[in-house]
Amino acid sequence: MKTEFLNSINKSISNKTFVKLTLSRPKNKTDLKNVYCKLSLIKQKLHLTFIFRHLTKDITKNFLIDEGIIQLEQLLGDVFFEGHLFTTEKDITIQFFRNKTPIIKDKKASFSKQLPLGHDKEKKRLISTTNNNYLKDLSVLTESGEVRKDKTDKFRQINKFVELIAPFFEKFDKTKSIKIIDMGSGKGYLTFALYDYLVNNRKLNISLRGIEQRENLVSFCNKIAEKSKFDNLKFEAGQIKSIQLQGIDVLIALHACDTATDDAIFRGINAEASIIIVAPCCQKQLRNQIKPTNALKSILKYGILKERQSELLTDGLRAMILEAYGYKTNVFEFIQTEHTPKNIMIVGIKKKISVADKEKILDQIKQIKNLYDIEYHYLEKLFKNN
Ligand SMILES: C[S@@+](CC[C@H](N)C(=O)[O-])C[C@H]1O[C@@H](n2cnc3c(N)ncnc32)[C@H](O)[C@@H]1O
Repeated sequence: MKTEFLNSINKSISNKTFVKLTLSRPKNKTDLKNVYCKLSLIKQKLHLTFIFRHLTKDITKNFLIDEGIIQLEQLLGDVFFEGHLFTTEKDITIQFFRNKTPIIKDKKASFSKQLPLGHDKEKKRLISTTNNNYLKDLSVLTESGEVRKDKTDKFRQINKFVELIAPFFEKFDKTKSIKIIDMGSGKGYLTFALYDYLVNNRKLNISLRGIEQRENLVSFCNKIAEKSKFDNLKFEAGQIKSIQLQGIDVLIALHACDTATDDAIFRGINAEASIIIVAPCCQKQLRNQIKPTNALKSILKYGILKERQSELLTDGLRAMILEAYGYKTNVFEFIQTEHTPKNIMIVGIKKKISVADKEKILDQIKQIKNLYDIEYHYLEKLFKNN
């Protein structure tokens, strides 16, 4: 039955009757709700574009037709219990069941025409390349405004970042001045883009400080901010740990290396920021401490698994500490892994929390540390030392 359904998809693509395809009814409880597939022309080649619809985000992936069919073969029946193929000749549904053979049903076609082919250039980005001088100064765009070939991932990452965090600014009043601090702003790619979007698209009253330890980058970024007439965007030389903070609303730290992310979270919690957004990287702090004496030893003897586990624990404990200190926290993928390996984002939104919750979470942290024989998590220690 599955082969018959896959053949129908293949046939509808080759005889130009394919309209669209959806996969639904996930087999297991997961945050992946359904998948939508359409045809796209990318670099002159026909592709199947998959939109994986998760609870909090959509992930789009393009596959050449043969690869797409392989993906569908893996998803149908194993991940999703239902597939709907829409062609201009008929609609075909396949249904899977736990202990029964799947069934296929045909229905009168819902569509009489194929959909226009999607195109790789059609995506409307929040950060546009048109008249974008700061992206030229940052060498993301050429002088004529095209994305440089070696900066495609950076451009995509900038847009994805703005797209992801834009919804968090909905809670702010347009008349209020929103104070944002970007810890470890580096060359400022994301800082400029965020400021540009919030001020020029969303018309919010933003004051944004980028904090960076490398003075050359600070003066480089300040020159671009001045040239772009971004009046409330300032870069300052300093350390995340010690920079002066007054009444911040949003703290951001993107790819601030290793424990600099913890310093940033610590500063954000203490300053009672309403929103804390971090994208950690180089999570090394726990690696040498993980020395389980229990059965986990047999897994963590493999270097790569220990490294992954150390990243997971570092970020997992960060998320729990944020929860313990009164933040409703979410951890999600920032951008597909083929674009950057630094792809986890942790977002904490300040809420009221009872002391009982805090004690419960701190106790769970203790249990996790015991399981892996971890002595201390740097962020936890910052709270203990202060
Ligand atoms: C990997 S870069 C990321 C830059 C930028 N946030 C981005 O995502 O494109 C990390 C930056 O954080 C800065 N940094 C790391 N630790 C810092 C600290 N303790 N205080 C201030 N800046 C720091 C580094 O100098 C570097 O420029």
